[in-house]
Amino acid sequence: MTSENCASAPNGYRERFGRLIELQHRVSQERNLARLPSLVMREVSELLAVDRSTLFLFDRQTMALRACFAEGVIGKAIVVPLRMGVIGTAILRRRSISLVDAYQHPYFNEEIDTLSGYKTENMLVVPIEGADGQVLGGIELLNTPLGRFAEADEMFVREAAGRLAALPDIDAASADREIAWLHERVEFDRGTVFKVDMGGGLLFAVHADGSGRVPISLNLKLGIAGLVALTGESLLVPDAHADPRFDASFDKKTGYATRQILCVPLRGSNGEALGVVQAINALRGEFTAEDLALLESVAGVVAIALDNAQLFHDGDRQFHSLVEALAASIDARDTLTAGHSKRVAQIALGIGRELGFPEADLDVLDVAALLHDYGKIGIADAVLKKEGKLDADEFAHMKTHAALTYDILEKIKFSRKYHNVPLIASSHHETLDGQGYPRGFELQEIPFMAKILTVADVFEALTADRHYRKGMSLGEAYAILDDGAGRKFEGRVVAALKQYLDKGGLEALGLN
Ligand SMILES: [Fe+2]
Repeated sequence: MTSENCASAPNGYRERFGRLIELQHRVSQERNLARLPSLVMREVSELLAVDRSTLFLFDRQTMALRACFAEGVIGKAIVVPLRMGVIGTAILRRRSISLVDAYQHPYFNEEIDTLSGYKTENMLVVPIEGADGQVLGGIELLNTPLGRFAEADEMFVREAAGRLAALPDIDAASADREIAWLHERVEFDRGTVFKVDMGGGLLFAVHADGSGRVPISLNLKLGIAGLVALTGESLLVPDAHADPRFDASFDKKTGYATRQILCVPLRGSNGEALGVVQAINALRGEFTAEDLALLESVAGVVAIALDNAQLFHDGDRQFHSLVEALAASIDARDTLTAGHSKRVAQIALGIGRELGFPEADLDVLDVAALLHDYGKIGIADAVLKKEGKLDADEFAHMKTHAALTYDILEKIKFSRKYHNVPLIASSHHETLDGQGYPRGFELQEIPFMAKILTVADVFEALTADRHYRKGMSLGEAYAILDDGAGRKFEGRVVAALKQYLDKGGLEALGLN
């Protein structure tokens, strides 16, 4: 690798996260699901400046991987049996694989190179898993100009893969499919599916015919769609502009002429309002009672999909409240440091946000922070609650809490994105100089999120008031963190902590 390569190769970690957030934004606005894979793959290849990139989708019937989007790859369709090649291995093991010299890897299949006259050098493959853990496919990237893929590249691709996995999901895909089904049976111009956001007082479109990439949202309190969502009653409006309940602002803005509206509520299993499905402008004559019945059946299917998505989120929420209860139980036992875990989580999230972490990573950071001291459950009261200085034996006993955190958390089968929580949480006393515990990890062995926990943990411990002593001043705490920056603590993380505190963190923590 030459320094020239380095200079021309795209960008640092921060810029990548920026691009990733941009990509997420664009992805969330893309209403045409068929376009998404190419959008994501183009972005990934461009950002990492790879020579070739391929998206493989898993075909359950043939147990094979089919290349559905390949950039830089010429020739006929590529189909790989699941049990062959590096991509298959990564998918079966549900783990990314990064190779510096692909030909050295026992599973590398040289045949494709031989057929196409291409030379694969380095490669990165990342599996794509659906929300329920089912295999969806994988992303394969070949030949970065840097000679090897960095950890940050992998994180970026994993995040992009996560976006792809979340897409064919739940609401948007089923809404698209159902509206297409309706178009085959009812002749009308535009179909829309709106989800309700009660808190925001909004209806936002998860599917909108003819809107291109423009996101549509409506005021819940105005217009037919809002009325249907709120009352839960279907409406057939034969002449919109003559109807006082109709809100003409959308037509005014877009130049579209709404004449007739057929609008049906989406109701959840508990009868709560989830949104509406709407068909606008019958192409011949008027909407009929039969059209209404068809629209109602569509609404039933979409509502089930939305309900399922909601259940999935509820499961996640339940998981988080369980984790919070666990954290509270350890905070309650350790009376000297009441509320410590919760505050460490608050600080860690502040740092993560400053560093541009995506939501999914913040969730992981939150759970790891809440549980970082869980091993203290195994520390004797006499040591845990001792107010004075610990002697050498007591200190050694106290230090076992980190390893214990791992042992306990490892028994919880954390799924999907949380699978690294035991390692991250238990590494919060590791330091960059390799002098930390429990494992004495070297710099590159410490998970990045653990480096955030370390800084959050130290800062919380230094500044918190205890009943037997006052917390340190901000200046004193900064002096200690600055002194350890680059030696014990990750400098970037310390800097992000300060930014977070400056931007309102101090106030949120009650330290100002
Ligand atoms: Fe600790």
